[in-house]
Amino acid sequence: MKLSGCNLPGIIVMAFVMLNSSSTSAITNFNVLNFGAIPTGGTDSTDSFLKAWNAACGTADSTFIYVPKGRYLVGPLAFKGQCKSSQIIIRIDGTIVAPLDYGVLGKSNNWFSFEDVSGVSIIGRGTFDAKGPSLWACKASNSNSCPSGATTLSFTNSNNIRINGLKSLNSQMFHIVINGCQNVHLKGVKIIAAGNSPNTDGIHVQLSRNVEILSTSIKTGDDCISIGPGTENLWIEQITCGPGHGISIGSLAKDLKEEGVQNVTVKKTVFSNTQNGLRIKSWARPSNGYVQGVRFIDSVMKNVQNPIMIDQNYCPNNENCPGQVSGIKINDIVYEDIRGTSSTPIAIKFDCNDKNLCTGIKLQNVNLTYLNKAAQSFCSNVVGKAINLVRPNSCL
Ligand SMILES: *[C@@H]1O[C@H](CO)[C@@H](O)[C@H](O)[C@H]1NC(C)=O
Ligand SMILES: *[C@@H]1O[C@H](CO)[C@@H](O)[C@H](O)[C@H]1NC(C)=O
Repeated sequence: MKLSGCNLPGIIVMAFVMLNSSSTSAITNFNVLNFGAIPTGGTDSTDSFLKAWNAACGTADSTFIYVPKGRYLVGPLAFKGQCKSSQIIIRIDGTIVAPLDYGVLGKSNNWFSFEDVSGVSIIGRGTFDAKGPSLWACKASNSNSCPSGATTLSFTNSNNIRINGLKSLNSQMFHIVINGCQNVHLKGVKIIAAGNSPNTDGIHVQLSRNVEILSTSIKTGDDCISIGPGTENLWIEQITCGPGHGISIGSLAKDLKEEGVQNVTVKKTVFSNTQNGLRIKSWARPSNGYVQGVRFIDSVMKNVQNPIMIDQNYCPNNENCPGQVSGIKINDIVYEDIRGTSSTPIAIKFDCNDKNLCTGIKLQNVNLTYLNKAAQSFCSNVVGKAINLVRPNSCL
């Protein structure tokens, strides 16, 4: 393997390897340039990235893949385990750009897809530029022939994942998906897409345990963070969201048999001009799912349409659920220190059903206003209590 002499991490890693030459552990360095990647943005480098991954994955001990500054044209890629290496650090300082033809990514479910891996970190100051606007325009022209689009960064059935730094720009569909994973730590990420871009959720988590999402800024066209069935022990802290649809547990009850959502903390968030703030949303359909043990703490709402909302009766256009009620049981949900402005008169809305009341709902120190006056609250089939100052007056 060739190391390029002018690349700083390469030198550091070489020194590390030499210092440790007597021991069995070492970090082996792989630079995508040495696998033929072209950093000028015009030549397809997909194969070089895959070769660098295969080399790293096939090496015992710790490995390091470096993507230096520059622009790299890369199509859909699956990075698959199991790997021989116990740890793979991918440092991206360049910009990864999608092919101009949106169909290349769009026909694939994912752009960068990590599957069955363990101990993978993706770090750096680099950017994923998925070039989404051409696909969004296709969707806006109402053409049934548009592909649904690719998730920019997807992790499936993987453990011990770190994502640090990095920017996701203009994803075709979701920016980041964490599906079937354990021990995921995401920090300092920037997510950017237009406020009217379709289905561009920032971060989607489902069927996953022990996930942390910290210090991340999300401007996008759909949910900033969406939380699906089977999410357990999720910690979200210091998020700025907007434009976007807020932080949402759900939509749940898509399926009759569904895993529950439990132990979710959302702390220190700022929502600016979003459609929703803190939302729990379920289709009006039968399901054995549930939501319990959710703490929404210390949020600022700036001109948010629905700052606090539980919607158990989601059934747009009355299609696929007429006359049905949600089977999702919602219990033990706390809203504490939530303040700011609503852009609609109803700032707190709890819309549940008489077959499955929402229970254990607690409001504490909530102060939401509408046009400098007290806003209103709406309650249907909900049981709980209000503690200390709660404005608008709680209807619990
Ligand atoms: C809830 O999740 C947090 C991490 O988000 C974890 O530290 C805590 O132990 C979990 N609580 C329970 C009861 O599992
Ligand atoms: C509630 O918020 C409004 C607007 O920000 C503020 O003027 C008012 O003092 C707050 N009320 C309390 C009791 O904190």
